[in-house]
Amino acid sequence: MQAILLVGGFGTRLRPLTLTTPKQMLPVLDRPMLEYAVSGLAGHGVDRVVLALGYHDAAFRAAYPGGRCAGVELCCVVEPEPLDTAGAIRFAYEASGMGDSPGTFLVANGDVITDLDVGEMLHLHRSAGAEATIHLIEVDDPSRYGVVVTDRDGRVREFVEKPQPPAPSNWINAGTYLMDPAVIGRIDGGRRVSVEREVFPTMVEDRTLWALCHNTYWLDVGTPKAYLQAQLDLLDGRRGPAVAGVSAEASVDAGALIERSVVMAGAVVGEGSVVRGSAVHEGAVIEAGATVLDSVVGSGATVGRGARVTDGTLIGERFEVAPGTALSDARVPQGV
Ligand code: GTP
Repeated sequence: MQAILLVGGFGTRLRPLTLTTPKQMLPVLDRPMLEYAVSGLAGHGVDRVVLALGYHDAAFRAAYPGGRCAGVELCCVVEPEPLDTAGAIRFAYEASGMGDSPGTFLVANGDVITDLDVGEMLHLHRSAGAEATIHLIEVDDPSRYGVVVTDRDGRVREFVEKPQPPAPSNWINAGTYLMDPAVIGRIDGGRRVSVEREVFPTMVEDRTLWALCHNTYWLDVGTPKAYLQAQLDLLDGRRGPAVAGVSAEASVDAGALIERSVVMAGAVVGEGSVVRGSAVHEGAVIEAGATVLDSVVGSGATVGRGARVTDGTLIGERFEVAPGTALSDARVPQGV
């Protein structure tokens, strides 16, 4: 099966990290986020992935010059301008020649990490004769998401983007879809079109949209909190055996304390410093006596002596936090 991964967004919620690196190329433990999405699909029979690129497209091509990732053939297409989710699907479908071997294809938001069983979804899609099938996941607070109401057999009755409480259901669009080529005909070419706000509602009217309610590991890695969560889940063993967070190629002083954190290759952590619940990217330096709590230190950045970086702070690539500074829930450099 072929898949389109939507990876062209600006990732504004993860700025300043995404000013220099597109969201799906940000590292999660030891690999770019993209590789979790691609290897998940490869495990379910996807053998060609079309990357629907836009923002910082060169970073993707540079990382996979041979056109392969996680054992899968990669095809890169770049929108001339951001076309939004459905516009990107149509553009990628046509520009990559997917129509040459028509059949059901998969579409996923490239910032979703999930253990979804695509085979189960495909079974529903085929047996229902659906035009498209959406993966749904159950959440406590659906107000930030697209909420989906289905019949007992899985046919979608209602699709409500970011509902006012009380939401009609706690099942939300989880960002993975199976689509038949007919969906492409519903999308206008050459303009921004949203799959959630424009395409799915028309399919609900035509009774051709289905959904699979399937609670499994799922994370939408769009926010700083979720970006840290993706890494801590690996350390905590929430996705298989727990893994070590400190790279063998990092340099950690014996007098430093590192708890439940990722410290990537080439990073240096000095004496008396504390790193907890955080991610320290490649080549970053945490100087002696500094504290980093629940935060991300971008690659090559420095946290100066005795500085305190806490509460979801994001430090951009190569930025220098002056010694003794206190940053809480901050984005530095500022003004981005
Ligand atoms: P924020 O700016 O933080 O909201 O992030 P984002 O730009 O990634 O937006 P969002 O998380 O809502 O996007 C969902 C998925 O669609 C992500 O994987 C994006 O990369 C992708 N995406 C959003 N808009 C476009 C677009 O215009 N073109 C392409 N190719 N992908 C897009």
